[in-house]
Amino acid sequence: MDVRFENVTKMFARSAAVACLNLAIDRGEFVVLLGPSGCGKTTTLRMLAGLEDATSGDIFIGPERVNLVPTRYRDIAMVFQSYALYPHMTVAQNIAYPLRVRKTRGDEIERRVKRVADMLEIEGLLARKPRELSGGERQRVALARAIIREPRVYLMDEPLSNLDAKLRVQMRGELKRLQHDLGTTTLYVTHDQAEAMTLAHRVAVMRGGRLQQFDTPMEIYNRPANRFVAEFVGSPGMNFIEGRIDAGARMFAGDGIAIPLEGNGLDRVHGRERVTLGIRPEQVHVATSEREGWLAGKVYVTELMGNETIVFLRLGNEKIIARAGADFRAEMEKPVWIWLRMEKADFFDAETGEAIR
Ligand SMILES: Nc1ncnc2c1ncn2[C@@H]1O[C@H](COP(=O)(O)OP(=O)(O)OP(=O)(O)O)[C@@H](O)[C@H]1O
Ligand SMILES: [Mg+2]
Repeated sequence: MDVRFENVTKMFARSAAVACLNLAIDRGEFVVLLGPSGCGKTTTLRMLAGLEDATSGDIFIGPERVNLVPTRYRDIAMVFQSYALYPHMTVAQNIAYPLRVRKTRGDEIERRVKRVADMLEIEGLLARKPRELSGGERQRVALARAIIREPRVYLMDEPLSNLDAKLRVQMRGELKRLQHDLGTTTLYVTHDQAEAMTLAHRVAVMRGGRLQQFDTPMEIYNRPANRFVAEFVGSPGMNFIEGRIDAGARMFAGDGIAIPLEGNGLDRVHGRERVTLGIRPEQVHVATSEREGWLAGKVYVTELMGNETIVFLRLGNEKIIARAGADFRAEMEKPVWIWLRMEKADFFDAETGEAIR
């Protein structure tokens, strides 16, 4: 275990920014804290960095409890969204800075600057000043400055959020490679679910200061712990249909929708009444001609994406979204037939939102 939060709470005035957080991160692991604005991600990171005191609970880096250890004695490096580079220094001087303040030898500094510059492909920029760089280049310099120290843990708070969409995707890949090559334990904060899913070994989903689920991206996607997690990951998002279980008729009955339940679908919801059915767009199939056992619906609108078609459907009084092939075509209001792959569906408690397994 490399980083551990044990029952960590942070109060600001009378409200908990982070409530009773338990999180154990393995050595070399890339963990992403994911959640909406204000859910406590930055506060969590700042407590680990020592920039904020925990109100209660224990924080460990390696075997050491660090609650009382000042920031500069915690073996961490940080990259933040606003990666302030020193404007009067060259790129090389910026990158070298953390080593210089630690009185590293000159030839050693030179060797290591060259190495990280090489890694991030910014060798050609070393003599420039920050104002002569693009946003993406600046971001790389900030990363280089963080990784030159080879600390025990990297802390990154939305480091890619200032970049345009294309560059963000590119840097995302580079960051993943870099972390893989360095093998340094990393705690990374984002509210972008795609970033979390692509970067993380494990994702910690937070809401209102509370950890909702901590698991691999695949588990988070395929077995969300509750409706909030299910809703937060995936794009387009999961479809939710409110309804009740009609055990006698072996049906899920929604507003103008009746879906037969069989096998484990029925077992799972045994003894339940009101539930929310959750089904991802890729588990909704659409056909333009009638098929035995499929549900009748209507096309609301389609979006051609080039590689696929997103189909917004009306099913009973609900609107649901399906992913169809690139060549799927249907006019608005045209009748279609819909198959929900119920073996891939989730059910959630209608009141608590907890997944029913
Ligand atoms: N210094 C502070 N004083 C008072 N309240 C604070 C302070 N810092 C954070 N908070 C509150 O704590 C909660 C969590 O804030 P935090 O910055 O950790 O959220 P976040 O998940 O990083 O959000 P974002 O995605 O917007 O950056 C918020 O409700 C915020 O208003
Ligand atoms: Mg934040």
